[in-house]
Amino acid sequence: MNQTAPTLDPGASNLSETRKPVDPCSIVIFGASGDLTSRKLIPAFYHLFKENQMPSEFRIIGVARREKSNETWRQELRQALDQFSRTKPVDDKVWQEFAKHIFYCLGDITDPATYDRLEKLLSGFGNEALRNNILFYMATLPSQFGLVAEQIHRAGLLHKDNGKGWQRIVVEKPFGHDLQSAQTLNTELTRYAHESQVFRIDHYLGKETVQNILALRFANQLFEPVWNSNYVDSVQITMAEDVGIDGRAAFYDATGAARDVLQNHLFQLLALTAMEEPVSFDADSLRAEKEKVLSAIRCSGDLAAGTAIGQYAGGWQGGLEVRGYLEEDGIPPDSRTETYAAIKLGVDTRRWAGVPFYLRTGKRLPRRVTEIGVLFKKAPHLPFSQTDTQELGHNQLVIRVQPDEGVTLKFGSKVPGTQMEVRDVAMDFLYGEAFTESSPEAYERLILDVLIGDATLFPRNDEVEASWRVIDPLETFWAGTAPHLYRAGEWGPKEADEMLARDGRQWRRP
Ligand code: BG6
Repeated sequence: MNQTAPTLDPGASNLSETRKPVDPCSIVIFGASGDLTSRKLIPAFYHLFKENQMPSEFRIIGVARREKSNETWRQELRQALDQFSRTKPVDDKVWQEFAKHIFYCLGDITDPATYDRLEKLLSGFGNEALRNNILFYMATLPSQFGLVAEQIHRAGLLHKDNGKGWQRIVVEKPFGHDLQSAQTLNTELTRYAHESQVFRIDHYLGKETVQNILALRFANQLFEPVWNSNYVDSVQITMAEDVGIDGRAAFYDATGAARDVLQNHLFQLLALTAMEEPVSFDADSLRAEKEKVLSAIRCSGDLAAGTAIGQYAGGWQGGLEVRGYLEEDGIPPDSRTETYAAIKLGVDTRRWAGVPFYLRTGKRLPRRVTEIGVLFKKAPHLPFSQTDTQELGHNQLVIRVQPDEGVTLKFGSKVPGTQMEVRDVAMDFLYGEAFTESSPEAYERLILDVLIGDATLFPRNDEVEASWRVIDPLETFWAGTAPHLYRAGEWGPKEADEMLARDGRQWRRP
């Protein structure tokens, strides 16, 4: 479903050169007392304000259940900002100005009176634009999205096309729990808003290095000619985390690694790596190309051989002894939720036929690293008698998403000396060294895009559904198996290594 609301101007793509200014508007956060508001949203708005990217007139209104004044809420947010701001110390003068734009609206989101109160507050600002241009941020449970959409519509705040201003809805992943719930969620949201008014945040798309995949592939002549099954042996996408479940037991145990990050972050990385060149970088062209790749993903026929799931047991990390998943607070002692998942996928297109894409993610792995490794085939002939050519690796192009953001190219080079011996070396591009500009936080970038109305970096509903079509059969298969244990601080269960070994390959050691 991809209708266009006549009142919306999709704006200049953020991947092109010109950017539109932001209209005066109100930002309403439902579920404002949650972690997301203090950790991500307020720091993002503060930085946009500090860098003069917010409009001359704007209001941020938090809706939550606990009784508090505007002043108390501002103080709480200030404390959180001191902790979570990407730049420190917080600039007090900037904060004082910024805080004047923040308001609190008491209310339970299940109570219609909350929305009438919100309407009154917005109308009371005495500025038409602040009443009509509204960004609704759903920082609530997905099960409440439908209700909130219905109520803001009923209160006259959300329209499909009333010709007055714009209204946009931001939702956070997970977008559903499976294909069916994703479809239900979308039906609920698009009952009161056009698809083009819905912005689904996958914060990986806001990361500089993720956008750089497009620059690397399509701004250069060098890589594209070899970016296909004639030259590429395999692709490995890794998202490793050293943290555990970070106090999110209820959410995580009901979700697991595949639904939490594979279905969204890793599939988006795969789509950007494998897609064809879009005709332009506007929202529809880019998203159409990603959707084609996601629809062309095929799981291995033998899921027992082509997947491996794991769960961390206690172990050592960074010199500290850490608990196993089953000992984490709030996790049932017999939980079979996976904290690690590795899968082998194919992409059924002419470009990628026969090239395996190996994806893996896990908690409590040795270190935090996200990267895309494109491993090339070995040269068909190696005329080096003084080199054990078995020892020579594949040429590799590694896009380091985080940390140490950059790109590494691995290739064979002559060892200095009188012999013609060849050894693998690496050529590195590091963001931190090549540019003096600092990267904005993903949320800053994405929130600004919503304010401008540029949907380029937000997955469209058909992408979400295509991703669930891949994940659903895997979840059904895994439901009948127990995850393999791996010790915290290790690179996942041995079954994930065996999965590659069966193909004569091994995981890159990031
Ligand atoms: C979130 C997941 O989407 O991404 C978390 O829900 C995960 O489980 C997080 O820890 C990782 O994000 P980042 O930006 O730190 O790699």
